[in-house]
Amino acid sequence: MGYDVRNNLHITKYDLRVAPIPQVGESAAMNENWITQQLDEAKNNGLERAARVYPEVGGVIKVDGKEVLNFSSNDYLDLGRHRHVMDRAREALDQYGIGSTASRLVTGTLPIHEELEARIAKEKGYESALVFGSGYMANAGTITVLAGRDDLIFADKLVHASMIDACKLSGAKLVRWAHNDVQALEKRLQQYADSKGRKLIITESVFSMDGDIAPLKEIAELASNYEAMLMVDEAHSTGTFGPNGAGLVRELGQEKAVTVSMGTMSKAMAGYGGYVACTSNLRKLLVHSSRAFIYTTAPPPAVIGAALGAMDVFEASPRLGYILQANADYFRGLLHAGGLDTMDSQSQIIPIAIGDNEKALALSQQLREQGIICAAIRPPTVPAGTARLRISITLAHLVDHLEFAAKAIIKAVKK
Ligand SMILES: Cc1ncc(COP(=O)(O)O)c(C=O)c1O
Repeated sequence: MGYDVRNNLHITKYDLRVAPIPQVGESAAMNENWITQQLDEAKNNGLERAARVYPEVGGVIKVDGKEVLNFSSNDYLDLGRHRHVMDRAREALDQYGIGSTASRLVTGTLPIHEELEARIAKEKGYESALVFGSGYMANAGTITVLAGRDDLIFADKLVHASMIDACKLSGAKLVRWAHNDVQALEKRLQQYADSKGRKLIITESVFSMDGDIAPLKEIAELASNYEAMLMVDEAHSTGTFGPNGAGLVRELGQEKAVTVSMGTMSKAMAGYGGYVACTSNLRKLLVHSSRAFIYTTAPPPAVIGAALGAMDVFEASPRLGYILQANADYFRGLLHAGGLDTMDSQSQIIPIAIGDNEKALALSQQLREQGIICAAIRPPTVPAGTARLRISITLAHLVDHLEFAAKAIIKAVKK
């Protein structure tokens, strides 16, 4: 039966019902060959991925009625079910409803968006802040404004995928420098000293898969010497370091030297969303031209309420981050005493170096059977040959939990 496209304005409901429905047949299956091929390849290399369903969230959860220690949660301060955080989310929900209903530049900006931005700016020590739909979007929406086709971006080798995607989207020339190696960065800056256009250095303060810390003061000095802007991703240092959890840029007094301090509300703030702290002028430009800010619906009220609630907790209990780091130190000490390599971790993120993809995966599965969840992180998330178990310590983990887990992990890895 044919279908006359030219007459489609005249078809009736009945016509639609009898219109031919394409059958899934041989040709459709053949078109999927490339998909099957790619999936098989990933499987054969020990790189198969799937989203497993968990019945609960948090650092200690119940799975099939059994207590399980979850070392793969980024809810570092265990605020996901904190009463005050949930109350503030509920208040915002009651006051404004489910959604913001429009993009920020149309009618989506609510008083709580601006309240949160003012609060982030104050805590981070910047003039201004701007909230985005997620951390991924904050990176995408900011890097593409800071740098364009004629510009240069100097990125630490291990920066998060969201920053790299943003660099690619910006069209700027991307120059990588060896991880946390200030001399390597300086060499790169010298190499391009005469190039015209803007220069932007990007790094993380606490690295997401290594848990090590960037030499921010030295990087900031180079940025100043070579007239480059500096953007620091504080996804994993917000809430976990600095006064009132304000992060490492603040702790090290580098607010004036760091052009943009970026962060997410999805880790220690326990919810969802992203932000950047910067000058008022830069915020104005982002509002004016950041596509990831403009062409998307404003983050929903409950999410913003939750972020405000988390910041209330940071302020009321300013030592939470320090307690978390003390617990992480203790756990690292246990692993070292058992002969394990935690790479250069200096934070609540503790990798255990394994190397081989399949071995890391097998260890992760073996530990899961013992009630310990720690994800095997494999390429492309980390460089080839550096597969690891990634442990996130959270305040839900008590000393007993840490000791039990360390013992089991040491035994499994040593075997
Ligand atoms: C370093 C880093 N930057 C950015 C992001 C993206 O943040 P979000 O999950 O809020 O999109 C993440 C994590 O997902 C991250 O680890």
